[in-house]
Amino acid sequence: MVTMKEGDLQLLTEIARFESSVDLEREFKIGWSWRHVRIWPATLSRLFKDGYLENVFRSNSYTGYRLSELGRAMIAAEQNSDTHQKPQGQKLALPDDLFSDIIGHDEIKELLRACLLSEKPVHVLLAGPPALAKTLFLWDIERAASEKGIWLVGSATSKAGLWDLVAERQPQILLIDELDKMNAADTAALLSMMEGGRLVRVKKGRELNLSNELRVVSATNRLNTLSPELKSRFAIRRLTAYSRSDYLTVVRGVLARREGLSQEMADEVARHLDGISQDVRDAIRVARLAPQLGLEKAIRLLLGSESSS
Ligand SMILES: Nc1ncnc2c1ncn2[C@@H]1O[C@H](COP(=O)(O)OP(=O)(O)OP(=O)(O)O)[C@@H](O)[C@H]1O
Ligand SMILES: [Mg+2]
Repeated sequence: MVTMKEGDLQLLTEIARFESSVDLEREFKIGWSWRHVRIWPATLSRLFKDGYLENVFRSNSYTGYRLSELGRAMIAAEQNSDTHQKPQGQKLALPDDLFSDIIGHDEIKELLRACLLSEKPVHVLLAGPPALAKTLFLWDIERAASEKGIWLVGSATSKAGLWDLVAERQPQILLIDELDKMNAADTAALLSMMEGGRLVRVKKGRELNLSNELRVVSATNRLNTLSPELKSRFAIRRLTAYSRSDYLTVVRGVLARREGLSQEMADEVARHLDGISQDVRDAIRVARLAPQLGLEKAIRLLLGSESSS
């Protein structure tokens, strides 16, 4: 799996054990030395050169180290492969009802299923206007993937950064909503992750090879702001706004199943909105206000223009 000497990993694990047994912030502000971990200085110096240790302090008489992020990531990666045993070969188990809460979109369901189960990864990007169930697709996959998946929203990627997140958690599936809003550093990391799982850390110029073949499923409203090289790495499925009859079907289903309306009431809302709206979220808002306002008034207040009243 990771390209480092087996003995080194054991050393790093011992160091991690030592670090977790002491109060680093208080007792080892200037880092621990070779005496504390009982590892030969020359060995520590080599681990430092390889990037697994940070040199916190250096004087003539004391060299203080601490595990680096990379060192930690190495240990995490190894632990992962221990407990899950070859995550690479392990296929995801997909339930039969994976996308059962999504109405229609049959081809996308088929495509996603195939991409999640293929031998080697095929990444998918769902692109299109609002309220077409793009996020719902990502949610369903996240639920099925559980701890093998990582969910993130482009506009709010974690402070640690995508690279560290993936190095630490070694997911099989990365679900990225609002891809167009992802910051430049994370996008750069994503570009190299999507090609064979070789991660090059931009910040420190260090590399880490991950055994995991990461699959990425993503969604966006805007295709035109994505770079050509990012787009090229995805199979892009464009979703188009619902036709009138699809809209009716989706609204009926969503209101009855997710909003708890009776089927009759769901049908009635759908019929009233036919030709007025294309947005499923409109129907949900109408359904939520209808009990107070009555159906027609809810539609008028929510969707009517000021002048028509
Ligand atoms: N085909 C569908 N099946 C089930 N629910 C749907 C479908 N289409 C839309 N919806 C409903 O519409 C709402 C919006 O869906 P979702 O958040 O997945 O849209 P989106 O495509 O991600 O939109 P945006 O681009 O604005 O993020 C949800 O409440 C969802 O249940
Ligand atoms: Mg969405």
